[in-house]
Amino acid sequence: MARQHWKGGNMLYPVPAVMVSCGREGEDPNIITVAWAGTVCTNPPMLSISVRPERYSYDIIKETKEFVVNLTTKELTFATDYCGVRSGRQVNKFKEMNLTPMKSQHIKAPAIAESPVNIECQVVDIQELGSHHMFIAKVLGVTVEDEYMDEKGKFNLNEIGLVAYSHGEYFLLGEKLGKFGYSVQKKKNPEKTSKKSDKKQKNNTEKRKSNRATKKQTKGRKVGTSRKEK
Ligand SMILES: Cc1cc2nc3c(=O)[nH]c(=O)nc-3n(C[C@H](O)[C@H](O)[C@H](O)COP(=O)(O)O)c2cc1C
Repeated sequence: MARQHWKGGNMLYPVPAVMVSCGREGEDPNIITVAWAGTVCTNPPMLSISVRPERYSYDIIKETKEFVVNLTTKELTFATDYCGVRSGRQVNKFKEMNLTPMKSQHIKAPAIAESPVNIECQVVDIQELGSHHMFIAKVLGVTVEDEYMDEKGKFNLNEIGLVAYSHGEYFLLGEKLGKFGYSVQKKKNPEKTSKKSDKKQKNNTEKRKSNRATKKQTKGRKVGTSRKEK
């Protein structure tokens, strides 16, 4: 089959498109959408975001050495795009998008209350790579919405309706194809397993819907450390 070969370019997709909130004391807080973001270390938990120096947010993050990574959902996709095409130099993105700044636990930069997962970060290094400078940061704490915790204390992150960004477009994460290590696990009855997981997902979705109405007014939040990844 014929193939084309191109010169080097950015083609690592999908990636998350996150809303990064930041702020200086005495000024309105700001939000910048970032797709060049990733986990870089498990222990200590660290992540990176790459930002162009010309962005309004760049100096704020460089000076304060703080930012919050807010995960994005289907409901937040419009705001995610908006925060990626308008600058805080001209508009107050929290106000324009009806988003609520929420006090963080470890840093002064506010989180976005409408995002179900807020990751508080402290910059430890800045790598000047070229067009983008990479902020390498420690994760000081993670706040998650109560709504996605089940009675056993498990955080159902994959039921949030997370959004991914691929080649210029946003996608809602959908069908589960397997779980970590499933390729080497002993096979169970596949039909039985998939029926069980469909039922579990349906139950959780219904529970979440009924919880949502009651929890909207008193937004419950849990602060903790994230689950250990490999
Ligand atoms: C989906 C998406 C992803 C983006 N990813 C990045 C990124 O990784 N780094 C960056 O510097 N800008 C990125 N941008 C552009 C900035 O979000 C945009 O220039 C924004 O207006 C900057 O806001 P500010 O001037 O208020 O800081 C992205 C925009 C979109 C829509």
